Amino acid sequence: MNTLIISDLTQLPKAAHLLQEGGLVATPTETVYGLAADAFNEDAVAQIFKAKGRPSDNPLIVHIASLEALDTLAQEIPAKAKTLMDAFWPGPLTLIFEATNKVPAVVRGGLSTVAVRFPSHPIMQSLITLAGVPVAAPSANLSGKPSPTNAQRVIDDLSGKVDAIIDGGDCAVGLESTVVDVTGPIPTILRPGGITHDMLTSVVGEVHVDPALLSRDESIKPKSPGMKYTHYSPNADVIIVKGSFESVIAEINDQVSRCKADHIKVGVLATEETKHLVNCEHILSVGTLSDLSTVATNLFEALRKFDDYGMDRVYSLAFPENGIGEAIMNRLEKSAGYNIIHKSS
Ligand code: TXA
Ligand code: MG
Repeated sequence: MNTLIISDLTQLPKAAHLLQEGGLVATPTETVYGLAADAFNEDAVAQIFKAKGRPSDNPLIVHIASLEALDTLAQEIPAKAKTLMDAFWPGPLTLIFEATNKVPAVVRGGLSTVAVRFPSHPIMQSLITLAGVPVAAPSANLSGKPSPTNAQRVIDDLSGKVDAIIDGGDCAVGLESTVVDVTGPIPTILRPGGITHDMLTSVVGEVHVDPALLSRDESIKPKSPGMKYTHYSPNADVIIVKGSFESVIAEINDQVSRCKADHIKVGVLATEETKHLVNCEHILSVGTLSDLSTVATNLFEALRKFDDYGMDRVYSLAFPENGIGEAIMNRLEKSAGYNIIHKSS
């Protein structure tokens, strides 16, 4: 298939037309790039799973550009969901509702619920409005790879497999949306993301976290099917080092010199605070510890760059798990397959 690359936004109507005809269009959002199809077109949605190599039991998020569109997707809008929508939509928050029978089973991964998000990115909003239908859109990566935060990474993964890719520059948030189940009495975080736990509790009171997110015990099944799969993994083995600042730096330097002695190609994922303290030829700084949103923005791109450099192994410091740090560590630990070195001092 010939993939149309769209960087001139006057061509957005063409992209919307492709969606109306059952095509697949990759588009920027404020979180990561998404791979969109008409959510009501079962054949088109099935093509998303094929293009990404995505397991069919992993449901998709349906994206809307007006609140009215929610009525066709959700059976009811609970009061706490309304509060969250007022506070965070449009934006990086996905809510899980009981689905109407208009939502095809292929979108829901066979569940009775549907995930809905109202994105804030102007290109995504225009695309949905022009197409005139809600769009189902997972992240626009091959299944298992880090989500793409710029158009080039979508081209790397999906060129020749989708009808069009819209180049809208870099994504601001850099990590996928927070997924919150609002079908029960207390909202529950199924995937941490750009809207943090504290932000949620500040508007809606008590918010639970899916126990599967807090435990490494693989017998606890996550409520969000996507969270059980290996994810965000570059080709390199990622190893996280946890401990005091000094002990982490010392351990990373020690590991890097051992790798060099063993002819293992090694890289270090660092920050502005640590990059001068590490002895390694391949260091990528992802941002600053004093503003973790910079780390969120750059994390996935850094993991992909290490693959460009042909690294066998990448060491990373652990990030503080407050605010968006919770989502950063959720993604980083998954990309590392929970391969973590703990330094006690
Ligand atoms: O920021 C985002 O959310 C991006 C952009 C493109 O909007 N999309 C995204 O989609 O990350 P995806 O498909 O890569 O991740 C969707 C997550 C998966 O973990 C999936 O299992 C979960 O949402 N999900 C979807 N529908 C669900 C449902 N009905 N119940 C529970 N989890 C659901
Ligand atoms: Mg994804």
